[in-house]
Amino acid sequence: MKSVLDDLPIRPVGEWAYDKIYRLVQYFGIFAGGMKNRWAALNYVEIGCGPGRCVLRENCLEIDGNALAIISNPNFSSLQKAIFIDASSRVAEILTARIGALGAGSIASAVVGDYSNGAALCGILKDLPEGSLTFIFIDPTECDVPFETIEQIVRDLNTDLLVNVSLGTDANRNLVSAILLLSHVKVREKYEAFLGKPGFCAKPEVIELAKLADHTALRRKFAETYKERLADIGFGYTDIQPVRHYYHLLFASRSEKGLEFWRKSCRIAPDNQQQLFQ
Ligand SMILES: C[S@@+](CC[C@H](N)C(=O)[O-])C[C@H]1O[C@@H](n2cnc3c(N)ncnc32)[C@H](O)[C@@H]1O
Repeated sequence: MKSVLDDLPIRPVGEWAYDKIYRLVQYFGIFAGGMKNRWAALNYVEIGCGPGRCVLRENCLEIDGNALAIISNPNFSSLQKAIFIDASSRVAEILTARIGALGAGSIASAVVGDYSNGAALCGILKDLPEGSLTFIFIDPTECDVPFETIEQIVRDLNTDLLVNVSLGTDANRNLVSAILLLSHVKVREKYEAFLGKPGFCAKPEVIELAKLADHTALRRKFAETYKERLADIGFGYTDIQPVRHYYHLLFASRSEKGLEFWRKSCRIAPDNQQQLFQ
């Protein structure tokens, strides 16, 4: 499908995509506004960025995807660099055209990169300014970003992380069979690589939950394991927010301040309701 605005391809999404973009933009505003005077420079990186605009399947309404929502944000000009990465060269080409049309090319670029190749991503990120703070959003459609990639890309960077974890879709549909069916070796490997935890699927308590088909407890265990792994690499301040029942946004920071900003950004939900838990 093509955009009625710029005649470039757009990505069809469910209406819940709006909630994800809303949460991202709320946090981005607080991050950029609150951190710009504390760091030499700020950067935004998105891995799995898409073409920049989306269309809601339900009503054909066009909306900005993450990339254009960030570029259009009043705080975008506080960034030194915004790097949008996608495995698809066509997607990178389309987003490059959109970045050019918005006159944002001095800050933003769209490049081809594969999240299963951490070393290549490090090559893309190596020119981020020294002493800067980078907010990285990883937005895949399934739990297939190897943990090793995250370890590699954060090693030499000051970063806060947001990861879209497909607990309600991918994990909900496939985790039980990956654990119980010996033939599902590839899917099992995918989940264990995602967690960076070999042997997760063979743990007795995990097998027990799978046998009971206790999807809720299994998803919780999966998410808790992911948080523990992030803590292992220094990201001890984490929080997870659902996007309806489809996926979860997992925020992770090395600093308490990062988490404080994230929690602040979550006070108003996408439906404009105050969150009770705050
Ligand atoms: C959920 S969509 C992203 C949506 C986008 N962030 C937005 O807001 O419109 C996932 C994206 O990840 C990209 N992708 C899939 N596999 C990838 C990989 N191995 N490395 C990098 N990007 C990948 C897809 O091309 C797709 O654009």
